[in-house]
Amino acid sequence: MTDKELLTIAREASGRAYVPYSKFAVGAALECRGGRVFTGCNVENAALGDTICAERTACVKAVSEGYRDYVRLAIYAESQNYCMPCGSCRQFLSEFNDGELEILCCKADGRYVSYRLKELLPYTFNY
Ligand code: THU
Repeated sequence: MTDKELLTIAREASGRAYVPYSKFAVGAALECRGGRVFTGCNVENAALGDTICAERTACVKAVSEGYRDYVRLAIYAESQNYCMPCGSCRQFLSEFNDGELEILCCKADGRYVSYRLKELLPYTFNY
């Protein structure tokens, strides 16, 4: 699958976001080794701190289906800025990855930047 194809899946997932509060829809597409893709969107809550980000939604779906080995993650938001994963999502993903995970951060015009997880979260917490 190409980067663009994975980003298209992330964009489609953003259409399922539940965002009555921020109105900021985010979609994620997490590609597992072997090719299976899990999607996620952000799911907000009136208790705002209980909101779940798109990336964590995708990761939890994958883990709960028995998939823990990830190679690429595409993130999309209809934004002027590249949609970067928040700190909590970086830490959450690091639980299942040694840092080689490739993260594609997209913006509204379809352009994207690519990082490794270890670049976005060096010295990750673990014990
Ligand atoms: N959000 C994500 O889905 N992923 C991130 O990495 C950062 C933020 C969501 C949470 C909330 O629903 C909205 O974006 C605004 O913060």
